[in-house]
Amino acid sequence: MNLRIFESLEDLSHAAARAIRQSGAKKIGLTGGSTPKRLYQILGESLPEDVTWVLVDERYVPHDDPQSNAAMIERTLFRNGLPARWLKFDTSLNDSASTARRFEEAWDFGDLDLVLLGCGEDGHTASLFPETPVLDVVDRIASEVYVPRLEQWRVTITMPVIRAATLRMVLASGPSKAPVIEAVRAGADYPITRATMGVETWWYVSRG
Ligand code: 6PG
Repeated sequence: MNLRIFESLEDLSHAAARAIRQSGAKKIGLTGGSTPKRLYQILGESLPEDVTWVLVDERYVPHDDPQSNAAMIERTLFRNGLPARWLKFDTSLNDSASTARRFEEAWDFGDLDLVLLGCGEDGHTASLFPETPVLDVVDRIASEVYVPRLEQWRVTITMPVIRAATLRMVLASGPSKAPVIEAVRAGADYPITRATMGVETWWYVSRG
C-alpha cells in the first residue's frame, strides 16, 4: 500500500493538490463526502486547465440539497466558475436508473487518468457499499444503487471504471478511519480493497 501520512487534513489537502497538479491528469474523477472539501478549495484557487472533471457518485437528492456532492464541488473546486467539461449526475430526472443511463451516454472520453476516492468506516468507496448488488456490476459505467443502511438511493461509477483508471488516490482523514485502513492493509474484503487491489493507488491519510 502506497501510503502518505500527514498530521492534519490541511497538510493532506495541500499535498494532494500538489500531486494532482503534478500528475498532469486530464480526466479526473472527483469523490464526494467531507474529506475532499479542503482539497477542492485549494485546487480551486487555480483550477487545472483542459481537464474533464467527472463526479464519482451522488446521493439521489436535488442539487440544492445540503447532501449534494455536485453542489459541494461547485461551491469549492469550481467556485470561480464551472469548467468546460464537468460530468455529474442529473438527479432532476427523479429516477436513479435514468440518471445513471444519462451519465453513461455522456461518457465519451474512455478511462480516467486519476480518480479521487473516499473511504467509509465500513470500507465503502464511491457509493459501492458492502453487500449491495452494485459491487457485482461489471458491464456498466455507472449504476443506481439503493443503500439500506442509509435508506437512500445513490448513483455511482462502477468498480471496473475505478480500477481502469491509471491512478487512484484515496483520501482518509482522522482517527475514525484508522481501523478501516489497517483492515484493508490486512486484506479485509471491503469495496475499497476491491477497488484498489493490484492497481496503482496512493493513500493520503491524516491523523487529525
Ligand atoms: C459520498 C462519498 C463517499 C465518501 C465516504 C467518506 O458520497 O459520501 O462518495 O464514498 O467518500 O463516505 O466520506 P467522508 O469523506 O465524509 O468521510
